[in-house]
Amino acid sequence: MQALVLAGGEGTRLRPLTYTTPKPVLPLAGRPFLSFMLDWAREHGVDEVILSCGFMSDDVRRVLGDIYHGMRLRYVVEDEPLGTAGPVRLAYDQGLLEERLLVLNGDVLTDVDLTEELAQHERTGARVTLALYAVEDTSSYGVVPTDADGRVEAFLEKSPDPPTNRINAGAYVVEGSVVGERIPAGRAVSFEREVFPALVGEGLYGFPAAGYWIDIGTPERYLEATWDLLAGHPRSSLPPRDETGSLVSEGCLVSGAHVGPQTVLGRNCSVGTDARVERSVLHDRVIVGADAAVVEAVLAERVRVGERARVEPAAVVGAGAVIGEGAVVGEGARLEPGVRVESGATVEPGARIKAAEGVR
Ligand code: GTP
Repeated sequence: MQALVLAGGEGTRLRPLTYTTPKPVLPLAGRPFLSFMLDWAREHGVDEVILSCGFMSDDVRRVLGDIYHGMRLRYVVEDEPLGTAGPVRLAYDQGLLEERLLVLNGDVLTDVDLTEELAQHERTGARVTLALYAVEDTSSYGVVPTDADGRVEAFLEKSPDPPTNRINAGAYVVEGSVVGERIPAGRAVSFEREVFPALVGEGLYGFPAAGYWIDIGTPERYLEATWDLLAGHPRSSLPPRDETGSLVSEGCLVSGAHVGPQTVLGRNCSVGTDARVERSVLHDRVIVGADAAVVEAVLAERVRVGERARVEPAAVVGAGAVIGEGAVVGEGARLEPGVRVESGATVEPGARIKAAEGVR
């Protein structure tokens, strides 16, 4: 079975993390994100994956290589962003697609049963089958109602009073003929806005997906996915967590520090005496000084947090930023890579600090 993974978006909502690392290979629980998706696809019989890349494609390829646990990885790189459907047409025009393929959004952590979705696709004779996942809060998503037989009735934009809570989970079974006939070549095309709405009533089916599903496309959901993975959902091959439910990678120095609960330290991090790092994610080579506190925050690689400094919940700090001694990074603040916050300075809650600015 072949899968095409859409992995070419800029991931703007995950900035500043995606300024230096593209979303598909952003570390999640210490591993490149897509490795979880590749494990999932492999469990359902996928043996060849086409990675459809654009933004920072070289980094994706460098991290994942050409073989992953026996699966062949091929890369199709677009010069201009082609949206979600355009890249599938590009792979088709390059003669790479099989008769039937899976198309997967490259930012979902899930254990949805693709085998069952494929079986339903076969049974109904669908041209395209979409996994539809029921969420509690539909406010960030459009919804997709179906009839009793699973035929998609409409693609509805976000609305305050949606008729269903099933959203498009970004996992499609697509007949190759649809690609040639329904996706125009040579320009950006969206499945959600263009191709699927036009296929309603013409063989477009929904598959009621169950299990775990989250898209990691915002810092809030990236943290939520981290906590869920640490707690064992979805099931994964992560190393064992410590008694606080945290994952501390090799080469970290944490003696005398309070690390956890639900925290991930990347490789070669150092956390000083009596510093607290709770429910947070630190990428590789982050240094946190003595008596500092980092709570529910994400620090990209090589960030330095000075002694007694505080990084408050939902703050996201870009690679190589330096937070001076006793400084405070307020709730939900975003610091671009390389920002310097002087000792004792305060970054206001929700502030957006550009690399050139610095904070005094
Ligand atoms: P935001 O900028 O934060 O919206 O993120 P994004 O650029 O990733 O967009 P979105 O979350 O809507 O994309 C869903 C999936 O499609 C992700 O896996 C993206 O990598 C992928 N994607 C989005 N746009 C493109 C594109 O133009 N080309 C390719 N190859 N993939 C894309």
